[in-house]
Amino acid sequence: MPRFLGIIGSPRRHGNTHMLVSRILEGAAEAGAQVDTLFLADHHIRECDGCHLCWQGEHCPKADDMAGIYPQIIAADVLVFGTPVYWYAPSGLMKLFIDRFVFFNSPGHRTWLAGKSAVITIPYEETDPETARPVVEFFEKCFDYLQVRLAASLIVPGVTERGEVGEKADVLDEAFNIGRSLAGQPGKQK
Ligand SMILES: Cc1cc2nc3c(=O)[nH]c(=O)nc-3n(C[C@H](O)[C@H](O)[C@H](O)COP(=O)(O)O)c2cc1C
Repeated sequence: MPRFLGIIGSPRRHGNTHMLVSRILEGAAEAGAQVDTLFLADHHIRECDGCHLCWQGEHCPKADDMAGIYPQIIAADVLVFGTPVYWYAPSGLMKLFIDRFVFFNSPGHRTWLAGKSAVITIPYEETDPETARPVVEFFEKCFDYLQVRLAASLIVPGVTERGEVGEKADVLDEAFNIGRSLAGQPGKQK
């Protein structure tokens, strides 16, 4: 049974990011996956100091919630990253979170992440596809570096208000189908 971890990078509960990630997880659950959700705004996640202790195989010395979150990431087969576009970038919550993936960069820790699959979903207000491009490229480059496979992308322009994506049945269907099809093909490629 594949395990999915949905990571919600908007602080807005029941907002567009929350709805999209939840719908992907619903599809995965219907196909038999075990699903968990991480609402980043509920957690105390501090900035990476660049102390490099984790690169030497040590645990991260930051006394925050990442100590409990790393095992959740390691246990997942598929990571579902959701962030709104904030100023042509990922949200601050998501950027802080990904900065802490330095932990997965040491030789001893790399295999804990490498080989997993990822999904990205990115809602934003404007309608120009170029608006989301820097965020997509951010994830693509991080995943390339960390040897994570980008299995699916769901980029949703033209949504502004909280939960507005709920009016787009086609988008919600696509989200559901992404989850369902990936749950039939779990992420580890080793
Ligand atoms: C701080 C902030 C910055 C934003 N920057 C952009 C932007 O650069 N381009 C854009 O299209 N929308 C931008 N938006 C709009 C959000 O991306 C949009 O409302 C999105 O649907 C919010 O998702 P949520 O409901 O999950 O929070 C911004 C919103 C906020 C609060």
